[in-house]
Formats: sequence, structure tokens, C-alpha cells
Amino acid sequence: MSNSEIPAGLKELLQGYTVQVLRNRPPDLVEFAVQHFAQTLQNRKNDQPAKKRGGKAGRKGVTFATNSDESAQDDGEEEEKPVKITTGKCNRRVSVCAEAYNPDDDEDDDTEHRVVHPKTDEQRRRLQDACKDILLFKTLEQEQFSEVLDGMFEVQVKPQEHIIDQGDDGDNFYVIERGLYDIMVAKDGVSVCVGKYDNKGSFGELALMYNTPRAATIVATQEGALWGLDRATFHRLIVKNNAKKRRMYEAFVECVPLLKSLELSERMKIVDVLGARCFKDCERIIAQGDSADCFYIVESGQVRIMIKSKTKAGQQDDTEVEVARCSRGQYFGELALVTNKPRAASVYAVGDTKCLVIDIQAFERLLGPCKEIMKRNIFQYEDQLVALFGSSVDLKH
Ligand code: CMP
Ligand code: CMP
Repeated sequence: MSNSEIPAGLKELLQGYTVQVLRNRPPDLVEFAVQHFAQTLQNRKNDQPAKKRGGKAGRKGVTFATNSDESAQDDGEEEEKPVKITTGKCNRRVSVCAEAYNPDDDEDDDTEHRVVHPKTDEQRRRLQDACKDILLFKTLEQEQFSEVLDGMFEVQVKPQEHIIDQGDDGDNFYVIERGLYDIMVAKDGVSVCVGKYDNKGSFGELALMYNTPRAATIVATQEGALWGLDRATFHRLIVKNNAKKRRMYEAFVECVPLLKSLELSERMKIVDVLGARCFKDCERIIAQGDSADCFYIVESGQVRIMIKSKTKAGQQDDTEVEVARCSRGQYFGELALVTNKPRAASVYAVGDTKCLVIDIQAFERLLGPCKEIMKRNIFQYEDQLVALFGSSVDLKH
């Protein structure tokens, strides 16, 4: 090789780096380069024994393909493949066969298909912040959660962009970092806005969990940012964890009086999307006056419902009065969701308490049949408040 010759592999290395820069748009190119090439080196080390074994089954570590379905090929060459940078529909799968997926059949060694999208420290901080309250991640072990974070990739969103179209096959699951998104569902040929995401939450799990077409259209109404997780990684980590969740919570949800009127399959769909949250003694779970985005069922421990008292002149004072307690199997936090009003009371843990949490979108979608029971119970709250404060209270309007 003469001095002027380009060393073998240099072009591919730089091409791989360029693709990742275009995709991740890191603020610091040098810091990103250090991380990227460190991963590439690690990946090569991981891959060496596999190549000796001579098969793709040994593939580990970093892959930079758009989704891991594509990355599963092994050509024995450089790890990174030129990735098509898509615009518009966020790396959408063009066509997907709706393969049936049974997590219990999945005997794969989890680490074999690990997808890692390198991130700068700053990106990782933003990602962790966006993911900290995502219910679907709340029942994952720490290791699975870090794999999820590794597998996520950043997506910039433009106003009016359709992230998901109803009826399409499912490609990715999305966590919202920022932006406003309308949820549109076609009913009798007319597209109706059934809800909104406001700078937090996640969507796109249903088509991936149940191998169904997308159940709604998600449209960005302003510029925003999302974190995507490809279908294969979602299956491997989240859907597999759902099988465990079903085993853990099946018996419990059977005994929740509110859910008795639902079919078993409907109760299991609730289990699939719920998250679990633990609270310490006296920790506030809900603050009176806040806007509401989820619903709770007590799994263990107890909660105390407190309302700010009223003076004789009807003015609110800051002293809180206990109005009720909820223990295992009882629910709270439904009122603001049903009435579309701020939280009517504050709720505190009594001792160590664990609650199952359902977000407002799943509440709307899955708990419709239970709403009548909840509405009836609102009268009891009103009676409690009359008994406490004397004057009549209308919580619904
Ligand atoms: P998926 O069907 O994969 O794609 C559209 C997503 O919209 C869906 O998953 C849910 O995450 C989200 N969504 C929010 N509200 C609804 C709703 N009422 N009906 C259907 N999907 C909804
Ligand atoms: P929400 O208003 O969403 O948040 C506070 C919750 O406290 C409320 O829903 C009810 O679930 C619960 N709660 C229990 N008793 C009362 C009551 N008397 N008045 C208002 N909220 C109550």
C-alpha cells in the first residue's frame, strides 16, 4: 500500500459515523465520535468469538440499522450498514407481516439481538427524563430498562407530521420528549380527535403488543421530539415482560370490585398497559388542584384522601381534612378523569404503599364500561363532603 492509498475500512467507518450523526444530531461531534467509535470497538470485540463460531447467532452489541429486523443479517463484514435516513414518517416499516408473537415461545438469549443507538450524555439525560414516568417501563428490571434506553433513537417532529396512521402496520413505539400530539380515531368514516398528548406520555404500543393495525392516527400539532423503540426490541423486552406481568397481576385484578364487570380479556389488556409505583409513608401521590393524567388502584398498603377545608364564608383554607381511606383493591384518581376537572382532593400514602397506575388514554379506552359505577360513587363523595363541610357540593360540574 502506498502512503496515498486510503486504508481499507476507513470509508465504511466514517460513513457509519456520518449516518449516526445525521440521525442523532448530537450537539458535540467530538464527544459523539468518542462514544461512537468506543461502541464500534466494543462491538468488534464482542463479535470476534461469534465470527469464529461462524454464525449470526453470536452477534452481540451494537447495531446501527433502522430497526433490528434489518440488523439481523450478518454479512461477515463491517457491523454498521448505511442506513436510509427517512424523513416524514419516522423510520416507518413499509410492510410488516403480522407475525403472531408468543413471548413464552421466545427462547432467544436476550443479549443476542441487542440494539444500541449510541447517545451523547446530554441525549441520555433527556431520554431518561422523558422515560422516567412511562408506565410500560415501570415494571421492568433495571437491566431491561437500560436495554430499552440503549435501543431508543431520537426523532425530530415537524408540525402537522403524522407519526402514526390508523390502519398501518406497527413499526415503532414512541415516548414523547416534547410537543403536542392529537389522537385521531376514524369513526364511521369521520376522523374524531379523542384525546391529546401534552409534552409527555407514550404511544404506539397496541399494534406491537397485539399484532394489530394501528388503532389511531397520531398527528403532531407543533414541532416536537420523540424517542422511538423498534418493534423487535419492544417485543423482546416489553412484550416479554407483559407475560410476567399477567402472571403477577392476573389474580389481583380478578378481585378488584370495579373491574368485575369487564371480560377477562379486557382485564388482561389493562394489566398489559399498567405500571406499578411504590410510595413511602406520607408521600403525596395526588395534589388537589393539579391536572390529572392517571388513575390508581391500591395493590398494597393504604392511602388517605385529604381535602382542603372551607371557612364559614365558603373560602378555601389550606388545612386539609381526611375524607376517606382506600386499601387493597380500591381505586382513586378517577374523578378528575371522568369530570375533566382538576384533582378534587390530595392523596397520601399511609405506610409503604404500592399502586397500580393506568394512564388517561388507557383509562378512556379500557375502562369505559366501568364509568357508570364510578359516576355512581361520585354521589358518595358529595355526601361525604356535605357531612364534613355542611354545604352541598357538586363535584361533577
Ligand atoms: P397503536 O395502535 O400502536 O397506534 C396508535 C396509538 O394511539 C395506539 O397504539 C395507542 O398507543 C394510542 N392511543 C391513544 N388513545 C387511543 C384510543 N382511544 N384508541 C386507540 N389508540 C389510542
Ligand atoms: P381525583 O379528583 O381525580 O383525585 C383525588 C381523588 O380522591 C378523587 O379523584 C377520588 O378518587 C378520591 N376521593 C375520595 N373521596 C373523595 C371525596 N369525598 N371528594 C373528592 N375526591 C374523593
